[in-house]
Order: sequence, then structure tokens, then C-alpha cells
Amino acid sequence: MADLFIALVHYPVLDRNARIVTSAITSLDLHDLARSARTYGVRRFFIVHPVAEQRAFATSVIGHWQEHPGRVFDSRRAEALALAQVVGGLDEAIAIAETQSGSPPTLVATSARTSEGISYESLRGKLDDSAGSPVLLLFGTGFGLAPEIMRRANLVLAPIRGVGDYNHLSVRAAVTAILDRLRGI
Ligand SMILES: C[S@@+](CC[C@H](N)C(=O)[O-])C[C@H]1O[C@@H](n2cnc3c(N)ncnc32)[C@H](O)[C@@H]1O
Repeated sequence: MADLFIALVHYPVLDRNARIVTSAITSLDLHDLARSARTYGVRRFFIVHPVAEQRAFATSVIGHWQEHPGRVFDSRRAEALALAQVVGGLDEAIAIAETQSGSPPTLVATSARTSEGISYESLRGKLDDSAGSPVLLLFGTGFGLAPEIMRRANLVLAPIRGVGDYNHLSVRAAVTAILDRLRGI
């Protein structure tokens, strides 16, 4: 299998008026995405935030569960959060992924709003190829990834659809559903 990384992007993202903003880190996202990452064999889960205080907040949440007594209280949570890494920008996440995998990752953006994109079957096929390049899946916060991130991505993943028009999942639900399609058995 090729290496799979995920990044939760807090800047640049959109607000409800489609302006570029920086969103705040939600601790629930850290716990839930880390558990999904661990379950589906994600190599590293990046939390991308440009503000030092927000990075310190995320680092303290992660650290609490890495250290005694958090680790003793819930070792499974600690094991999942060990995959989480807080970075200041997407470039840093890409560089770490490249160092870990030995080649630069293919950036794959996700959105509820795209009309088309690479299919889950195709991306799964790339990931199943152990000689394939690593993949870094990008997830948004706020009202989604900013256009500059969508343009920078090498690929955009087809949106998850349900039974009707509505498909605006929480990022926690979207990450789990997407990882299950790409790595679930
Ligand atoms: C727009 S943010 C919403 C953040 C929200 N504040 C929350 O609590 O989750 C949700 C992110 O999950 C992903 N997402 C949500 N629904 C999706 C769908 N139907 N298909 C693909 N990705 C989706 C995208 O990465 C999107 O940027």
C-alpha cells in the first residue's frame, strides 16, 4: 500500500460569505480524526494552523493524552493521537510527508461542492499500489477549503453523495466515510 496522510486545514478556508478566513481548532476534531486515522492506517494526521497560540492549544490537547495520567486512563486514545502532528502551514505538512515516504505526496482536495473529481475506486487503486506515490488528503474547516488550496491540489476527490441533494457532512464524518471508501474492508 502507498502511504496515506491526512491534513485538517484551518487556513486558508472560507467563511459563510466565501471570504478567506482562519478557523479555530476544535478539540473534538483532533480526537475523532486521530481515531479514524489510526483505524484506517493513515501514516500521519496533520493539523494545519498558522497561529502559534492555536498550535499550542492543539499540542497541549495531544500532549495530555500522550503523557501520564492521560495515557494510562485511555491508551487507545493516546495511540491514535500519536499520529497527530501540528504544523504551521501546508508546505510543512508536505515536507514531513515527503521525508517519511521518500517522495512528494500527491495532494488530493476534498469538498462537498465539487461537481466531479477522481473516483474512490481510482484513488483506492493508486493507494493499493505499494510502488505508488504517497497521498495527502486535504480536508477543510469553516465552510471549506479556499480556492487556492483547491487549485494547488493535484487531484480533487469526487464528493460523497447520499440519497438527495444535501451532502454537507461534518469534517469528522467526511474523513471517516472517505477513509472507509479508500481503505475499508
Ligand atoms: C466545510 S467543513 C465543515 C466544518 C464544520 N464546521 C464541522 O464541524 O465539521 C467540512 C469538510 O469536510 C469535507 N466534506 C464535507 N462533506 C463532504 C462531502 N460530501 N464530500 C467530500 N468531502 C466532504 C470537506 O473537506 C469539507 O471542507
